[in-house]
Amino acid sequence: MAEEKRKRILSGIQPTGTPTLGNYIGAVRNWALLQSEYDCLYMIADLHALTVRQVPAELRRRTRELAALLLAVGIDPKNHVLFVQSHVPAHCELAWVLACNTQFGELSRMTQFKDKSAKHPDNVNGGLFTYPVLMAADILIYNADLVPVGQDQTQHLEIARVIANRFNGVYGETFTLPEGYVPAAGAKIMSLSEPTKKMSKSDTNANSFVLMTDDRDAIVRKFKRAVTDSDGQVRFDRENKPGVSNLMAIYSTFTGRTMEEIEAEFAGKGYGDFKLAVAEVTADALAPVQAEYGRILADKAYVDEVLKDGAARAARLANRTVSKVYRKVGLLQLDR
Ligand code: AMP
Ligand code: TRP
Repeated sequence: MAEEKRKRILSGIQPTGTPTLGNYIGAVRNWALLQSEYDCLYMIADLHALTVRQVPAELRRRTRELAALLLAVGIDPKNHVLFVQSHVPAHCELAWVLACNTQFGELSRMTQFKDKSAKHPDNVNGGLFTYPVLMAADILIYNADLVPVGQDQTQHLEIARVIANRFNGVYGETFTLPEGYVPAAGAKIMSLSEPTKKMSKSDTNANSFVLMTDDRDAIVRKFKRAVTDSDGQVRFDRENKPGVSNLMAIYSTFTGRTMEEIEAEFAGKGYGDFKLAVAEVTADALAPVQAEYGRILADKAYVDEVLKDGAARAARLANRTVSKVYRKVGLLQLDR
């Protein structure tokens, strides 16, 4: 008997810097875990990275490094698909058609657009504005059922659903409506220095984030400096104890313990012990990934081969969707 068709996942990450512990817990760690249950396509969103000015040589280098890091995390390029967005031109083809089915007002409401415009007032470009349309194309072109992302991307996922739904209404059933998959505990890992802000690799304060490539010493040092509070109790309370709660979320991710168990474990102990414990489990979790990363990055030819194969497989799926969409909207297609 035929096996039931597995659901499909698509997700993406931008090659704009070394991924942080936030990217790891909020996104890529889950990417690896989800492979046992779903058919996965994982994408390096290099076109999205262009919405902020990049140094060309650096962008190129980081794209390959990120591919190596994703392989090191455990993405399996044989049974799943790992590729670079710009290697599959169909994404841009679909993005145009979708842009023509997306309203100015809808895009104006996106909080990331507002945030990034405020951050780069000298470069509020059209790409930044239509960013969610390209992201919708990334997802809808593969008819993805599920999209694992951190909390900051849920608004973009929602607009992808709105666009898909509208298109289906006007042109007939075409796209699968994608669902988000946001991890419970680590959906938003906060900055270590300002725990009410999300941990971000573009933060100017290097003590605010842990990078996936940081060594044990750096990890211990950064956690030791993490901002907490003066009440001295390890207790989960996002509202009143954002720093401690953030550290607890990290500790919970790597130990599998619940917040109650963690509170009990550190009852009567100071923050010093607690921070060290968080640093230790984080360093233990990242060490094997870092070792693999070094090994894989040394074999550039292997990484490039994986990406070439991934792009070819992704393009086959993507091109089919574009043909279908072009036909539905009335673009003349000649027999090939
Ligand atoms: P980006 O680095 O913006 O390309 O994000 C890649 C993925 O990591 C997305 O799914 C984000 O939602 C997720 N992510 C980024 N920062 C964090 C964070 N501080 N906590 C949890 N998830 C995050
Ligand atoms: N915008 C996402 C981010 O910054 C990256 C991304 C691009 C993405 N295309 C995607 C995520 C499609 C999920 C699905 O994190």
